[in-house]
Amino acid sequence: MKILTVVGARPQFIKAAAVSAPLRRLAHEVIVHTGQHYDRAMSDQFFEELDLPAPDHHLGVGSGPHGGQTGRMLAGIESVMLSERPDRVLVYGDTNSTLAGALAAAKLDVPIVHVEAGLRSFNRSMPEEINRVVADHLSAVLCCPGPRAVANLEAEGITRGVHVTGDVMRDLLERALPSLDDAALARLGLTPRGYSILTLHRANNTDDAVRLSRIVGALADASEPIVFPVHPRTAHALAALGAGATGSIRMVEPVGYREMLALQRHARLVITDSGGVQKEAYWLGVPCVTVRDETEWTETVDAGWNRLVGSDPASIRDALADRPLPADRPDLYGDGRAADRIAALVACA
Ligand code: UD1
Ligand code: UDP
Repeated sequence: MKILTVVGARPQFIKAAAVSAPLRRLAHEVIVHTGQHYDRAMSDQFFEELDLPAPDHHLGVGSGPHGGQTGRMLAGIESVMLSERPDRVLVYGDTNSTLAGALAAAKLDVPIVHVEAGLRSFNRSMPEEINRVVADHLSAVLCCPGPRAVANLEAEGITRGVHVTGDVMRDLLERALPSLDDAALARLGLTPRGYSILTLHRANNTDDAVRLSRIVGALADASEPIVFPVHPRTAHALAALGAGATGSIRMVEPVGYREMLALQRHARLVITDSGGVQKEAYWLGVPCVTVRDETEWTETVDAGWNRLVGSDPASIRDALADRPLPADRPDLYGDGRAADRIAALVACA
């Protein structure tokens, strides 16, 4: 059986790195990289660090407005599919690469497997929400991280092909834990629990100058260093604002996966608007402050480890204070064996 895996953005290289090895034991995997992310620090470093096989096809689509970017991907994936004739198409998450992969497959009547199905923010102004709703409605096999995702799908009438597999990011995190790059702290002059780590890249945070300035301004007042591996989108937005590393904020280039996990593991707080980082903070037992008005990962909020603070500077400053940690941290999003389950589903579906 031939599987076409579509990836294009940083979190997809990470998720595919968990699934690719077990999948290749059961099926012939062909990888297409759309080129949505292309900086070395956003793409190649993850293929190398995580031993993800080099893409068989690279579409080189690059950046651009949603329609143009997604359209170029759609045309490119369609022509790869016409030459490769895969039996299934495997897509991850909720980016424009996910949407293009799902649309190309649906038009050629090839069954789609969607990993990270059923997540919802219930905010349709988020590009990712559109991508995940469409991908879910087109998919034959929907791999959910947990039961809430199943309930979200059911509420939209999707009940066939739905499986609770757990989250593949947990698999990879567990595999990486023994070899995290803890030396990163010393390189950055940080001490365990003596700093926080920040990531920001959501369009509604970066593309709104007022909102971005309020967030960065509130964090700059922190009494401890905040290390900030800056996503290129955010770097451009901050440059346009004329804002640099101010106050406590220490801007660095995007870091590798094991360095990022090490920086999260030893932080006092994780501050983010990333989906993946909210989950990693939870699994690592580090409290998370989410700079958004809503999250798809609501279980982490209910468990008391994640606080939604929006962009109000007073709420952000308040969230930086030390608080007692919740007594429990229930197992969420699987048991670290999601990739094996997904590989079996893909190969047998
Ligand atoms: C995308 C996904 C988002 C995901 C994120 C992961 C969509 C709609 N959004 O957001 O869901 O959470 O990836 O990181 O698919 N850029 C570079 N170099 C790169 C990549 C991007 O300079 O290698 C800059 C470009 O100016 C580009 C901007 O970042 O216009 C945004 O990139 P894009 O891929 O469109 O969206 P992300 O914000 O990365
Ligand atoms: N990540 C990384 N280096 C960084 C920032 C993030 O390796 O400088 C990892 C992070 O640990 C997580 C994934 O990238 O595994 C999350 O991707 P991102 O935040 O880009 O996207 P999202 O999860 O929001 O879609």
